[in-house]
Amino acid sequence: MSLPFTTAAEAAQFIKNGDAIGFSGFTSAGAPKAVSSELAKLAEAEHAKGNPFRVGIYTGASTSDMLDGALARANAVLFRTPYQSHKDLRTAINSGNAPYFDLHLSQLAQELRYGFLKKPDVAIIEACDVSEDGAIILTAGVGICPTVARMADRIIIELNHHHSTKQKGMHDIYEPQAPPHRREIPVFTVRDRIGVPVLKVDPKKIVAVVETNLEDGIAPFTPPDEVTQKIGDNVALFLASELKRGIIPKEFLPIQSGVGNIANAVLDSLGKNPEIPSFTMYTEVIQDAVLGLMKEGNINFASGSSLTVTDGVLQDIYNNMDFFCDKLILRPQEISNNPEVVRRLGLVTINTALEADIFGNINSTHVSGTRMMNGIGGSGDFTRNAFISIFTAPSVAKGGKISAFVPMVSHHDHSEHSVKVLITEHGIADLRGKTPTERAHIIIENCVHPDYKPLLRDFLKLSKGGHTPQNLYACFAMHQQLQETGNMLDTDWGKYN
Ligand code: COA
Repeated sequence: MSLPFTTAAEAAQFIKNGDAIGFSGFTSAGAPKAVSSELAKLAEAEHAKGNPFRVGIYTGASTSDMLDGALARANAVLFRTPYQSHKDLRTAINSGNAPYFDLHLSQLAQELRYGFLKKPDVAIIEACDVSEDGAIILTAGVGICPTVARMADRIIIELNHHHSTKQKGMHDIYEPQAPPHRREIPVFTVRDRIGVPVLKVDPKKIVAVVETNLEDGIAPFTPPDEVTQKIGDNVALFLASELKRGIIPKEFLPIQSGVGNIANAVLDSLGKNPEIPSFTMYTEVIQDAVLGLMKEGNINFASGSSLTVTDGVLQDIYNNMDFFCDKLILRPQEISNNPEVVRRLGLVTINTALEADIFGNINSTHVSGTRMMNGIGGSGDFTRNAFISIFTAPSVAKGGKISAFVPMVSHHDHSEHSVKVLITEHGIADLRGKTPTERAHIIIENCVHPDYKPLLRDFLKLSKGGHTPQNLYACFAMHQQLQETGNMLDTDWGKYN
């Protein structure tokens, strides 16, 4: 059977109004690019004729402008899950034009298999190689690929020649059984391979193969600034002291680190700290800094769901597969983020909070409690099951008008029970074994910006007793003040006394 080569525009014709589409990849890495752009044009053309055209979108995580951006601008989103970070899609979500539900990244594939969600009609998969018998080599991200490729009725392949077939062997494709037949996921060390390197699909389902040559387009991170560098240094300081006092074993523990500028600075600091030995990563996104540290010998292995790296770094990996092939694994996100594996391996998890409260609860997702930022991503998968869970944040946002620390989070993603350590540019709050009152004092004294310390100390004086010194009348006053004057520092507790 020969493969059905066609154009992206013709491939898009296989998608109908109301279809649910499962996309490959994780972040822009490995996400399809050409067919989604054409699908957006198709939707616009149908809308111009007065016809409805919207599709449901399942992805690994965030994607690129060619997918989330294009479909959001075309007003073509029927529903969207589990994570996004594109400004146009975020605007559409927050204005009610793109129905979105937030999900732990490890759960999407199993929720599809369990039948909780609409079955994917179509899977669009980026590959660097595909054979006539349906053997696919994926590119830089795996995400939910194995599940959507198996469940969808139709498969469209984007054969992207920008990615090298030399990466064959880097992927580890595996799908767990459904309960009550599920067994242990046999990842006992970060290096364990439990599946197969090639994604096998029913070749009869492949309706179109589109050849492309497109970069993932991942932007470089900005180098650490004074604040992110200090946060990174504080994380390194904390981990070095945990190692010294024997809490972290001498061979160290695998690190999970979120994505972004703070994560980049944290990795930079871990690499530079002479007291931290060469370590491994069990994480969801492998970013530029990891590869740099791998070349310097600071990181000796990384398991993730994607190589979310700039194009130069990606080509360097492809050109040096002899060096990288035994140091990298790309897994489906339900394995890279799997709670069972996270707990077993004893991960030290490091994620970023949008907002924390003085008792250790975390808001990762909602600006001022209402506007969706990106989604919970993998932060819940990792935090709840970590050996030590750390949250980092700059102590203030918007030039000091917003404190990252408030009396009560305006949206709740991670509870005080799961969060063990908070770190800002000012210091470290180790919350383990502390009561709510003790936690509040440690957080205020060690992490809060000096401008906000008096305000939060005074808040504690409004407490009316009980186990947690909360005041339900005043706990959102800083958020209300932000809405009224644009500055939390103007908050006056007078009326609550
Ligand atoms: N209230 C309002 N706005 C706030 C805020 C608060 N408490 N705290 C920060 N902000 C603003 C910042 O000023 C910034 O706005 P700007 O872009 O207009 O300057 C924005 O929110 C955050 O900026 P961003 O550069 O995206 O921050 P980041 O890269 O450090 O990301 C999260 C922080 C929380 C959004 C991000 O880590 C995330 O999406 N987390 C959830 C998923 C996750 O943890 N994944 C990792 C698991 S592996």
